[in-house]
Amino acid sequence: MNKTTSTKVRPRLGLAEAALKDVSQILGVLLADEVLLYLKTRNFHWNVVGANFIEMHKFFEDQYEELDDILDEVAERIRSIGSRAPGSMAEFLGATRLKESDGKVAHAAGIIEVLLADHETVIRGIRHDLAAVAKANDAGTEDFLIGLIEQHEKMAWMLRSHLQ
Ligand SMILES: [Fe+2]
Repeated sequence: MNKTTSTKVRPRLGLAEAALKDVSQILGVLLADEVLLYLKTRNFHWNVVGANFIEMHKFFEDQYEELDDILDEVAERIRSIGSRAPGSMAEFLGATRLKESDGKVAHAAGIIEVLLADHETVIRGIRHDLAAVAKANDAGTEDFLIGLIEQHEKMAWMLRSHLQ
């Protein structure tokens, strides 16, 4: 690799370097949120108890599988705009807008309240992020984030319906 290779292969997407950096930082926080939510959902898939165990065990599995796809897409979006995707627990814990769970909530209703609140935090977070991404003129990331809001809103509805 010669000295100029790294600059030669910078993405030429019609976006300023500063904009790419800002958007990558925003997506890095979102990635941390998605990883936390994935892990919390998986924790509850393991530890849920109660008469409806098998139903909840499978429901949480469906949800963490969807979150697994989402977090992969967020990380790959960061790569697509030329930045390194955060990939360590220390980075995720330092960046996330969500709180870790000790996993001690064991009955489905309590778990669902925790996960619903997290999805709603993520939705509000993305809505906030959209304004900054629009300012950076990054239409691709805007479109991507709008799709993620819809996915989280649907997942939140699935959770919320258990509480009604
Ligand atoms: Fe499992």
